[in-house]
Amino acid sequence: MQFATRAIHAGQEPDPQTGAVVPPIHLATTFQQLEPGKHKGFEYIRTQNPTRQRLEECLTQLEEGSATACFSSGVSAISAILQTLSPGDGIVAGHDLYGGTVRLLDKVYSQWGIEVAYAEDNNPLSFEQAIQKLSKPRLIWIESPTNPLLNIVDISAMSNIAKKYGLKLAVDNTFATPYLQKPLLLGADYVIHSSTKYLGGHSDVLGGAVTVKNTEDIKPIQFIQNSIGAVPSPFDCYLLLRGIKTLHVRMEHHCNNAEKVVQYFIAHPKVKKVYYPEIEKPPLLDIVKKQMLRSGGMVTIELENTETLQKLYQRLKIFTLAESLGAVESLYCIPYYMTHAGLSEEKKQKLGVTPTLVRFSIGIEDINDLLDDLQQALK
Ligand SMILES: Cc1ncc(COP(=O)(O)O)c(C=O)c1O
Repeated sequence: MQFATRAIHAGQEPDPQTGAVVPPIHLATTFQQLEPGKHKGFEYIRTQNPTRQRLEECLTQLEEGSATACFSSGVSAISAILQTLSPGDGIVAGHDLYGGTVRLLDKVYSQWGIEVAYAEDNNPLSFEQAIQKLSKPRLIWIESPTNPLLNIVDISAMSNIAKKYGLKLAVDNTFATPYLQKPLLLGADYVIHSSTKYLGGHSDVLGGAVTVKNTEDIKPIQFIQNSIGAVPSPFDCYLLLRGIKTLHVRMEHHCNNAEKVVQYFIAHPKVKKVYYPEIEKPPLLDIVKKQMLRSGGMVTIELENTETLQKLYQRLKIFTLAESLGAVESLYCIPYYMTHAGLSEEKKQKLGVTPTLVRFSIGIEDINDLLDDLQQALK
């Protein structure tokens, strides 16, 4: 089946008991056992739940993996992978990551004896050098496109490095979604999502997921899922299944709108720099074309100065100043003060997260209204 059909049907077959086309939301916290230890596949809500199982099946099929474990948030999905490591193990991570991932690496798991070495996102050699700094390297962690600078990391090249050194490769696919990019087919071992973003798509549900390429890799993740208990509620699983049904339609529209906004920004004298995968130059552009269907709905710009930034947030009407991304409505944020506020000044400088960097999540409103809004704000 093609992506659009899977998005609508995978894991979402009609309810076998009633034929209901929308499967029921199973709220039961516990399930009858026929004999002690003999049950129909469900014991207790934290361990398994029929609604969550449907969502896990759907995501597995969309990412073309072998299994998925869903979590109550993106950060708990990230944590689950990190918790499969032991003290002394090492992680090599790209520099430009979601601020919450950096916080987990630098301030939580480093306390538990996990070593972290950072590398330049689009420089495979720098990843190899970082691996050599670690005493027990175990995992490579990347995002592509990255947050907030939309850097492109060559996933196949990272997979080759991971194989060369016997490491696992984890890719946060939140910005691209499986509609635009399938890291497992490019050699990744784990795909992570903050399903709070494009998968949910309506700014009304918090969730996360880990999908694995090899069946045996899901067991340790499921063990953490059950042991720590950071699982999504059945209602949140239902909202995600509902959101995913239109993922392909929304993504096309996000991309169409984003491409027009990018052209507008490129021509605008008050915009110093535009970050968007499709406008990269070769050889990065070749990687974009190799691993992404289109460039997505996120656009980041560097404004000429703070006065223009102030005018922007005083005047924008349709775009809402808010954290998060990936929903039907257009949002924007200033990573320096918002999503990436927790990073040290040194790290912000190294990354290029300046006070005049603006990250837009382009929604699926009418493009003329979005362009008019930007125009009146930047006038
Ligand atoms: C790329 C990326 N990964 C992970 C997360 C964390 O997800 P959540 O907020 O659902 O915990 C975010 C949140 O913004 C994100 O942007």
